Amino acid sequence: MSTEALENLLRENRHFPPTPEFAAAANAKADMYEEADADRLVFWAKQAGELQWESPWTQVLDWSNAPFVRWFDGGKLNVSVNCVDRHVAAGHGNQVAYFFEGEPGDSQTITYAQLLHDVSQAANALEALGVQAGDRVAIYLPMIPEAVVAMLACARIGAVHSVVFGGFSAEALRSRIEDAQAVLVITADGGNRKGKPMLLKQAVDDAVALSPSVRNVLVVRRTGQEVAWTDKDLWWHEQLAEQPKTHEAQAFDAEHPLFILYTSGTTGKPKGILHTTGGYLTQVAFTHKNVFDLKPDTDVYWCTADVGWITGHSYVVFGPLANRATSLIYEGTPDTPHNGRWWELIEKYGVTILYTAPTAIRTFMKWGRAVPDGFDMSSLRLLGSVGEPINPEAWMWYRHVIGGDRCPIVDTWWQTETGAIMISPLPGVTATKPGSAMHALPGIGADVIDDEARPVGKGGGGYLVLTEPWPSMLRGIWGDPERYAETYWSRFANTYFAGDGAKFDDDGAVWLLGRVDDVMNVSGHRISTAEVESALVSHPAVAEAAVVGAADETTGQGIVAFVILRQDVEPDEHIGVALRHHVAKEIGPIARPKQILVVAELPKTRSGKIMRRLLRDIAEHRSIGDVTTLADPMVMHLIGEGLTAAKGAED
Ligand code: PRX
Repeated sequence: MSTEALENLLRENRHFPPTPEFAAAANAKADMYEEADADRLVFWAKQAGELQWESPWTQVLDWSNAPFVRWFDGGKLNVSVNCVDRHVAAGHGNQVAYFFEGEPGDSQTITYAQLLHDVSQAANALEALGVQAGDRVAIYLPMIPEAVVAMLACARIGAVHSVVFGGFSAEALRSRIEDAQAVLVITADGGNRKGKPMLLKQAVDDAVALSPSVRNVLVVRRTGQEVAWTDKDLWWHEQLAEQPKTHEAQAFDAEHPLFILYTSGTTGKPKGILHTTGGYLTQVAFTHKNVFDLKPDTDVYWCTADVGWITGHSYVVFGPLANRATSLIYEGTPDTPHNGRWWELIEKYGVTILYTAPTAIRTFMKWGRAVPDGFDMSSLRLLGSVGEPINPEAWMWYRHVIGGDRCPIVDTWWQTETGAIMISPLPGVTATKPGSAMHALPGIGADVIDDEARPVGKGGGGYLVLTEPWPSMLRGIWGDPERYAETYWSRFANTYFAGDGAKFDDDGAVWLLGRVDDVMNVSGHRISTAEVESALVSHPAVAEAAVVGAADETTGQGIVAFVILRQDVEPDEHIGVALRHHVAKEIGPIARPKQILVVAELPKTRSGKIMRRLLRDIAEHRSIGDVTTLADPMVMHLIGEGLTAAKGAED
């Protein structure tokens, strides 16, 4: 058995420093690391000071009751005032807060002044419905401006929002309403997805029928389709129209709850991750400004995430608005009405900063570079990635084809639980390496340790941990303090266990290696799924790959790889041999898959994460497990077909 928690296998020697021009103009300079190291709490207090507080805090950090934390205790502020009112008051009312593009091609331009009107009316409407500070409000909407307005209106009156992704089922919505005991649901008649109206309201009706805590349902009219109506339902536009366009906002404690967001854990029951006000807004604003180098007067920023995910909360809504950004919101999918829709939008709006996920990038690689090459994307100046490890080949493609070799890439590691970016390059400082999230941000403590909590040091692999409390950290799991302490703080003393494998390279840069439960054990060597997948994707025939460890009599686990070939590659009987050889060459014989299966699709959750559990079922010849969280349950059927076609690729 190896002494390292994870084998350190792949080497990456390419690196890309920022241009001198980018570095000179960057918001964050190299001395920010030293400043934060000199005194972490002074550093975070300075960042918090960029916000507008109604009364000052008395203590920056209270960690005396660990793992329960308080940041900026005693301070009071209003999130909605920080995101909207103060910019209007400073004379920026005419600046665009959001360009909205609907999937059918309709568009809206919403200035900060307009946003203030909308949020004020919505806050008045919520209060008129009896919603009070501390009450929970479920938001189940498509990617439309009303989603942002609803979140800000809740924050404005101190109500706690729980956004449920519009692609989730009635049952998922019901269980989240019940867990939080929501009093109000904000939804829409529908949304537009892949050229068709998507049905939302029926799911709400089904969920609300079983949810006695819900008093009312506010319904945004988006598609205009016929919907059933219950006696709890009220039209959003009618309720808002009756309300005054101003609303006196009250300040709330820094530790007042801001939102709950449910995320999956290792057990079936989703965890309601709780975030609060002052620390959260401090860190999302700080990271948004410095990681994306936001220049509020000139940038057009586009984070493609849905508000149903943490990325949508922190980097579509709160971070950008706190920094007075001009953002783009797009309702639909990248392939509607054609595969170049995103690039068309970048050209149309002159987008300068694009923040998206590796799964999208790999899809675009599969479609081929001719699609983006058809558009003028010279406005882009910075690219971001989030959600899973980005393979070096996808990173290089992103840099070359989308960024024209001119834009720094920030690969940002963080989680629903961390609330904001934790590990990332600073784009004007860091010489980035393709596939590495590089270093903990200033003010953040991260390390990689082994089973005995010993730091592995440069060149070593193990578990990623966060060694210091940080302002935007989760404050708990809604209604379950024990599960909070147990899940995150019990494996290693006083240290946050992120559940991810990671390694330091010889220069001390951090490489994320996927969730720890995705780690395979082959002949006593612990090998990350991410490294083998990267090796496979670096082969010219492969568009996308997922690998799992399947039980093997001699080696403990054997590696089974599922691969999607590029569109122009015909599968033949040699491909399996070629890919096994390629992985052996890239990583070493230990990582050579025992089986390669060519498939047409991979099973993914709605947020784009590969469901390796289902692939493991196939690899171990079990009947397929629960597929309810799959974005498209038909995928498992397609994989079945792919398998029959790929017999020749087996060992
Ligand atoms: O495994 C890591 C992966 O996504 C997990 C967090 O997922 P979620 O809470 O849904 O938040 C996603 C958006 C922040 C992490 O534990 N992950 C996220 N970003 C990266 C990543 N893995 C590698 N590199 C990243 N940049």
